[in-house]
Amino acid sequence: MEQSKIKELVAQMTIEEKASFCVGKDFWHVQGLERLNIPSVMLTDGPHGLRKQGGSGDHLGLGSSNPAICFPAGCATASSFDPEIAELVGTELGKLCQAEDVSTILGPAMNIKRSPLCGRNFEYLSEDPLVSSRMGAGEIKGIQGQNVGACPKHFLANNQELYRQTSNSVVDEQTLREIYLASFEGAVKEAKPWTIMCSYNKINGTYASENKPFMTDVLRGEWDFDGYMMTDWGACDDPVDSVAAGMDLCMPGPVKDNVRRIKEAAENGTLDMEKLDRAVERVLNIVFKYAENHDKDATYDFEAGHEAARKVETESAVLLKNEDAVLPLKDGEKIVYIGEYVKNPRYQGGGSSHIHPYKVTGIWDVVGEKEGVSFAKGYDLKAETIEKEAAVEAARAADKAVIFAGLPDSYETEGLDRTNMDLPAYQNELIAAVAAAQPNTVVVLHNGSPVSMPWIDGVKGVLELYLGGEAVGLATADLLYGKVNPSGHLTETFPIRIEDTPTYPYYGVEKDDVKYREERMVGYRYYETMKRPVLFPFGYGLSYTTFSYDNLRLDREAMTDAEELGVSVDVTNTGSVAGKALVQVYVAPCATGEIRPLRELRAFEKIALEPGEKKTVTVTLSKRAFAEWNTDIHDWYVPSGTYRIQVGTSAANIVAEKPVDVTSTRMLKPKFTVNTALGEIMAHPVGKQVLMQVMGPMMGGDKAAALGGEGDVASDDNALSQEAMMATGMAMPLRAMVSFAPDASIEQMEQLIAAINNAIENA
Ligand code: BGC
Repeated sequence: MEQSKIKELVAQMTIEEKASFCVGKDFWHVQGLERLNIPSVMLTDGPHGLRKQGGSGDHLGLGSSNPAICFPAGCATASSFDPEIAELVGTELGKLCQAEDVSTILGPAMNIKRSPLCGRNFEYLSEDPLVSSRMGAGEIKGIQGQNVGACPKHFLANNQELYRQTSNSVVDEQTLREIYLASFEGAVKEAKPWTIMCSYNKINGTYASENKPFMTDVLRGEWDFDGYMMTDWGACDDPVDSVAAGMDLCMPGPVKDNVRRIKEAAENGTLDMEKLDRAVERVLNIVFKYAENHDKDATYDFEAGHEAARKVETESAVLLKNEDAVLPLKDGEKIVYIGEYVKNPRYQGGGSSHIHPYKVTGIWDVVGEKEGVSFAKGYDLKAETIEKEAAVEAARAADKAVIFAGLPDSYETEGLDRTNMDLPAYQNELIAAVAAAQPNTVVVLHNGSPVSMPWIDGVKGVLELYLGGEAVGLATADLLYGKVNPSGHLTETFPIRIEDTPTYPYYGVEKDDVKYREERMVGYRYYETMKRPVLFPFGYGLSYTTFSYDNLRLDREAMTDAEELGVSVDVTNTGSVAGKALVQVYVAPCATGEIRPLRELRAFEKIALEPGEKKTVTVTLSKRAFAEWNTDIHDWYVPSGTYRIQVGTSAANIVAEKPVDVTSTRMLKPKFTVNTALGEIMAHPVGKQVLMQVMGPMMGGDKAAALGGEGDVASDDNALSQEAMMATGMAMPLRAMVSFAPDASIEQMEQLIAAINNAIENA
């Protein structure tokens, strides 16, 4: 609907009616108004299936919902590293929304995986903002391609479940920009979501639902978000402050008190009427965008949806280990499938994302009839016991053993973080026992977040399914028997022990002020920079074939940060089966004297290759690939210097690299004082120029003289080396010169500083 018509509608509303549009009508609906022909539309979860509940519903997944396709959870889909796969999920979700008359689906969930322990990691996409953003964008495009709204959530810095409604995430500006905001930024700019959901927590003291700097200044002002902003369910602290800050819809409803408070504030002027009108206009804009495009005759093809869920999982599962080519399995081999998950797979997590599946296909439904295949229960999830002897006997009698293990439902759910990274002890015990009896043991994992693997050296194969959705058995059979070649890669690091993680030991303990002490060293940024060994690095994933990456070339050797860099590499399938290769392009920063992550993923592309086939992949890097957030200018800034462009098979394995010189087009204008260290002034080109004019003669001669000393102190055996003298001098502020040079005065130093600042300002 045209903007002018929407404004006309709002103009005809009473203040109370306007206020009511800023609060949900019920648990799942936006307010409607018959008098003005404004329909009441539905919003519901998300993010990897549609959870449409009848009646007023509940939001903890306790009540029943209509059957829907349960797609692989975000942890899995993201591992495809293929935005088109995320888009396929989105398209299917959008189609079902049309058939079920749902205007907006609450997803994708795009919070950064700050620690492997977060209870909702299974819904989230990555520890890396580029992956999160691009995969999130794929899902948003798919959903909205069906004329249904997407709702990326939970904005912002909501990375734990512990006290999620009241905790205060204390995050510095640079970290927010480079990691937590960046996780949403690309997706908002690229895919233009119709709505966004704020998180429950506070960010640096202000509730996300009242946080104008992020909700209005960044989202709308900088990233051009033009949809409406809703709260998470119950995240509204003060409805008036929320609307004033840029919140448009407080969910859920009906909350008469919220309507009353907004109405009264608008009446008495505490809330600008303009701000209230603006919120209602934004909501109506999206309501009509859906209503005018709703296909009342839409139906959904559930069988096609089930097949789509299978395809997504086959593209997403990650082959972590495959020694002696234990996989793929061959028809006719004697294989024992072990574990309760063989017949009763774990394919989704708990909480608001919980889907009532259309149907579930487990591995046994697919392979149970195959010749030579047998089953041993191995463990009982409920009783937490194992049937070790029977499983070991069966394993011994077979050619290969495939154990299905994983985290039980209660381990991974909304509202609760894990306290450790371990599989249940009984499962670890069973795997070790089977592996000791059968050298060809493969472990297949159902989990939404990394687990420790104490038995890793004893098994030959590991296939990480994550939470693979309702068609997980079909996909698993495709992968285990080589019908489809695994091509998923980890979007998060698998640490060896929880003690190795960047947030240890704070994570899960802090519940009021949650201090993001690790700053931008999240995930692989930490492990690579700090040189910590890991179990499996970010970006890792095997295939039944092999690839080579050759002839890395850059289309220039030097550039400014206003120019773009073309990066090409030839990828060849060097094995004997078709497969998909993932090209990961990292940028290693120039030396600046500050600690930046050792390398950061700046581009990726997945390609299909027949055996022997070679393709050239070209990606383009622009300013942001080199930039960091500079807190002096509150903007992206590229320190000038030599950067290295690296192609890796994971964050830990770089197979080719080339340097490029990048020059900043922006000169920083720091304000120096007499207490600034000389070294800092010397590091600035203009500062150095002015300083050298005045002090050059002294510095060019005897270094000691530059420090105000007399004579050749460096000739004394116990005296400082030339290098140490220089370092000491560079650490000295101009103010200290006065203490060493009898004729110098503080006024002279202040004049010098003023001249330097002036020259910088006018440069
Ligand atoms: C969750 C959201 C969800 C909402 C509605 C909240 O508890 O945090 O992700 O969309 O409930 O179910």
